[in-house]
Amino acid sequence: MKLLVVGSGGREHAIIKKLKENKQVEKIFALPGNGGMVADAECVNIGATEIEKIVDFALENKIDYAVVAPDDPLVLGCVDALEEKGIPCFGPDKKAAIIEGSKVFSKNLMKKYGIPTAQYEVFDNAEDALSYLESAPIPTVIKADGLALGKGVIIANTLDEAKDAVISIMQDKQFGKSGDKIVVEEFLTGPEVSVLSFTDGNVVVPMISSMDHKRAGDNDTGLNTGGMGTVAPNPYYTKDVAARCMEEIFVPTIRAMKEEGRTFKGCLYFGLMLTQNGPKVIEYNCRFGDPETQVVLPLLESDLLSVMQAVTNETLADIEVKFSQKSACCVIMASEGYPVKYEKGYEITIPQNLNDNVYVAGAKYENGKLLTNGGRVLGVTAVEDNLKKSIDKAYDYVSDISFGNAYFRHDIGTRALKATEEK
Ligand code: AMP
Ligand code: GLY
Repeated sequence: MKLLVVGSGGREHAIIKKLKENKQVEKIFALPGNGGMVADAECVNIGATEIEKIVDFALENKIDYAVVAPDDPLVLGCVDALEEKGIPCFGPDKKAAIIEGSKVFSKNLMKKYGIPTAQYEVFDNAEDALSYLESAPIPTVIKADGLALGKGVIIANTLDEAKDAVISIMQDKQFGKSGDKIVVEEFLTGPEVSVLSFTDGNVVVPMISSMDHKRAGDNDTGLNTGGMGTVAPNPYYTKDVAARCMEEIFVPTIRAMKEEGRTFKGCLYFGLMLTQNGPKVIEYNCRFGDPETQVVLPLLESDLLSVMQAVTNETLADIEVKFSQKSACCVIMASEGYPVKYEKGYEITIPQNLNDNVYVAGAKYENGKLLTNGGRVLGVTAVEDNLKKSIDKAYDYVSDISFGNAYFRHDIGTRALKATEEK
């Protein structure tokens, strides 16, 4: 079989490596991929949102199955365009991808169907939002409605910060049209859990839980990033919590989407906060998380392609999706200065024995050398019998990899480990 994976990051690299385990797979194309993937896929210089070109490429190359991984092409209807030409795909269609594409949509969906989430108000003009804020509880959370490269959420600790956020999103249009509407939301507290799930619109199969580390610096300091590391499973996500999430959140969400005529097929990502009043949805993503995928898929024991095809064919209820009992830790190695300003073009050295453990996100090949080419450069994953061992091993691996201006957090998994020890 010939497969196509749309996207270019570490998440896509993890998906590609897992798909390759299936013996039927002869070739995988990555559009556009990155230089660090060349041993696993043929990278083609077509951007992830160049939908017409993606469809033409798929037809010309007789692609048997396509996986659309990032949010933007999903929200823009890449799956619809491929399926229209008869190419089976993994990923939600445009109508369903709105669950991530519009925060106003997802909040209203949760309200309508009684799915637990933070209290909120929606505004379509800055004046009303600013006057509402005068009497709103602080801290408060301001969210741009549309996609904003993961930067559209502002936690405001003072009234002034909240007002500044409204002005920069709605008046200065920091995120363009994504800020035409905003959600102003109750500030929640509690441990966060990411749960990725497979769903064919009828049944939902949660994957192993994970924990992201979004802030740039150790001890959760510094700016928000795309994610500096992950561990799986997440120790806060106990069996009881999982059962409650299934009943109160996962199943109701799948049913709600179907009821709305927006059947969701693909990977639905639940960003949850375990509050004192129970688990609540912080966000939905219409795709695999990055870098959650780099710890979740290495623990998947079932064949990924078969599971994906069962999603496409709506036969997910008929198959078993198995995860290992082990633990995984992924440490992201970034360029110093990320997420603001950083240099690129440094040579990356990865020992050969680590090839299976490294998921490359931002690199390019030039004159036979692999060079840094992004903020997040690569993720290093270790799978071991327990969390402690997986963390230690991941950091061992990190110490064997080098490139100029490398930066990584030193405390990935520390909080999870503490939670395990407290149990
Ligand atoms: P998002 O971009 O939606 O992933 O949000 C980024 C981060 O903001 C989340 O991972 C949470 O840590 C935080 N966050 C979002 N919404 C809330 C909320 N209502 N209360 C507290 N923290 C939040
Ligand atoms: N790691 C968070 C995300 O993928 O949105």
